[in-house]
Amino acid sequence: MKKTNLSKDKDFVKLSEEWFDGQAKVYDETDTLLYSKYGKISCKNIFDYLSDRKYESLLDVGCGTAYLIEMLSKRYPAKYVGLDLSSEMIKQASAKNIAGAEFVIGKSDELPFEDNMFDVVTCSQSFHHYPDTDKAMQEVLRVLKPGGIYILSDTGVGFFKMLGVKVDNFIYTHFSNTGDCNVSYLNKSIRDLKRNGFEIVQGENITTFIYTVVATKK
Ligand SMILES: C[S@@+](CC[C@H](N)C(=O)[O-])C[C@H]1O[C@@H](n2cnc3c(N)ncnc32)[C@H](O)[C@@H]1O
Repeated sequence: MKKTNLSKDKDFVKLSEEWFDGQAKVYDETDTLLYSKYGKISCKNIFDYLSDRKYESLLDVGCGTAYLIEMLSKRYPAKYVGLDLSSEMIKQASAKNIAGAEFVIGKSDELPFEDNMFDVVTCSQSFHHYPDTDKAMQEVLRVLKPGGIYILSDTGVGFFKMLGVKVDNFIYTHFSNTGDCNVSYLNKSIRDLKRNGFEIVQGENITTFIYTVVATKK
């Protein structure tokens, strides 16, 4: 697997799994920076974008406790699938008994779905935990139907961009054990999505440290 960070000695997938297994039971109600604060902002932004759009099937990669799927399913009935690395997060999501929703344990770079299955794929505050971001984007492209949309909302480096994204990720990967390894920013993620075959619909910085990009599969 290609590693785009500078710390090759850490297993970021394992660290993410352990970190979020530990958070799962209190994730929703703990509205602070290291828990669901940014997730709630990104989920609301994705929810708003989808408010006047129709779809039959939606996959949420890195769904956590199903905060987004729960909101969406209350407003709009469709086939919802949530995938997450953390079995404890999936346990919390499943316990919500959301009608029409299914939850699976899995990894962003090996999505256990056939090609062209989903109208919409979402990813809220999970992408910066993926060691192989190109593979994660290619997997989304593969499972999206032609004309389907990908909504990626994630933590950006904000004004620390001046340090350079590599320096920023060097600090994350060396001094934290939370599995964060690929924090990006709006224009870089747009470039990465284009390079991996997506067409960009729109992109915006929704706060200093959170950006959202909407992309489509031609
Ligand atoms: C900050 S939480 C966000 C959860 C939810 N999307 C939200 O916005 O509330 C990040 C989630 O991504 C999951 N995750 C991290 N790395 C992953 C990977 N490689 N594949 C699938 N899920 C991953 C974690 O287990 C965690 O549940």
